[in-house]
Order: sequence, then C-alpha cells, then structure tokens
Amino acid sequence: LWRPQPPKPLLGKRVLITAGPTHEPIDPVRYIANRSSGKQGYAIAAAAAAAGAEVVLISGPVELRAPAGVDLTRVESAREMLAAVQSALPADVAIFAAAVADWRVAAEGEQKLKKGAGGPPPLQLTENPDILATISKLTEGRPPLVVGFAAETENLIDNANAKLARKGCDWIVANDVSPATGVMGGDRNTVHLLMRHGEATDLESWPLMTKDEVATALVARIAQAMAVPA
Ligand code: CTP
Ligand code: CA
Repeated sequence: LWRPQPPKPLLGKRVLITAGPTHEPIDPVRYIANRSSGKQGYAIAAAAAAAGAEVVLISGPVELRAPAGVDLTRVESAREMLAAVQSALPADVAIFAAAVADWRVAAEGEQKLKKGAGGPPPLQLTENPDILATISKLTEGRPPLVVGFAAETENLIDNANAKLARKGCDWIVANDVSPATGVMGGDRNTVHLLMRHGEATDLESWPLMTKDEVATALVARIAQAMAVPA
C-alpha cells in the first residue's frame, strides 16, 4: 500500500541540541539549578528527527523520555554538558535550548554540609563555562548554523539582540518568561526569532504557539535557511 511520505528536509544533516536545566552540586545531597522542564528542547529534537536529521540531544535532568529516533545523552552539570557537546561535534546545526546554571559552587563539599552553631555556610560561587559562546566562537569545527535561546523577563528584544552579539551565534530564539505570561513550565511559548546576516539582524515575531508548534516552525525555518545558500 502506498502512503505519501512526510518530507524530510533535514535528511543527511546532523543536529545537536541541548535541553533542560543543569544541576550544580553543593555537596552530595544538594544542588543549584535553573527552572526548566526541557519541553522546548525535546520538542525541537523530535521535530528535527521527524524532518530526517540525525539528532544528538544532550539533556540535563528532566522527567521526559527520549523522542523516537534521537540519540540522547544525559548529563548533570554545565561542565558535563559542555564536554558532551564537544564530543558530539561536528554538527551541521547546533541549538542551545538548555537553561544552563550560570554559577556553581567553587569548592563542592565532599561530605554533606551539616547545620551547626556557625550558621548557614557561605557559598562561594564561580561562573560556569558558556557552552553557546564557546561553540559559537570555535575557529575550527564550528557548526555552520548556531542557534541560542534568550529567556528574558524584561526588555526582550534589546536583551536578545545584545545576547546575539555577545555570544557570537547566528540566531537567537527569544521568549518572554516574565511571570505574567505564565509560560514557565507550560506548554506554550511566544517567540521572536532574531537572525544575524553580517551586520544586519532580521526579526520575525511568531504568534503564541504550543512548544511543539514552535519546534516544528523552527525546524522548518532551519531547513529553509540551509536549502538556500546565504
Ligand atoms: N548558555 C549556555 N551556557 C551557559 C549559559 C547559557 O550555553 N553557561 C546558552 C543557553 O542555552 C541559551 C543562551 O546561552 O541558548 C542564553 O542563555 P541565557 O541564560 O539567556 O544567557 P546568559 O548569557 O547566561 O545571560 P543572563 O542569564 O545573564 O541573561
Ligand atoms: Ca544565564
């Protein structure tokens, strides 16, 4: 029986995606983390696989199953995520949807910290590696299309534009996560796509969509960009 096959615009392309939060240990029983369900990154992985891509998903701790046809690597910390990304290269497209913890505790306790007369322990923090910026600035083996995310609670477009320049990526998917929007942890997202072309930046604002719809639209946009040489 013949059935029409869905188009596979990313056939032969290797797509790397980060998703979820990272957990940064304080001691063996405690950690610092970001709020992230991982839903948007997993949806992008599923959409890219459906579009025919070979998909490598590098995920922090989330309660989600690996999408069909996706090669999933689970990590905990930002440093582990960076190492997993580096060993998964090369890729044609890299999409950094993870909510990476910006800081970790400088000296992780080997034993559980105990409450005591000394009061709460002072936590000395140190900055984590910036995975998106590190990969965007590679001089050798940089994926031809690097996409970052910018979740902002104010001045969305200005902050996202600054982030695009600072990180050195090609596109930024910006979304408003201020509490009033109610999007955090939910199933929907309003996103704005900022695309850098040399000195200029194009802005596309998409209507409120489910995270699955955002994923499908982003993958379609990527396929379109890769089909048309810039
Ligand atoms: N990112 C990353 N590694 C980090 C921090 C962020 O790869 N250590 C990536 C995220 O996956 C996202 C983009 O960078 O694609 C923007 O993350 P965001 O937290 O919005 O940017 P920051 O540069 O950390 O700025 P801030 O949190 O201060 O807004
Ligand atoms: Ca951050």
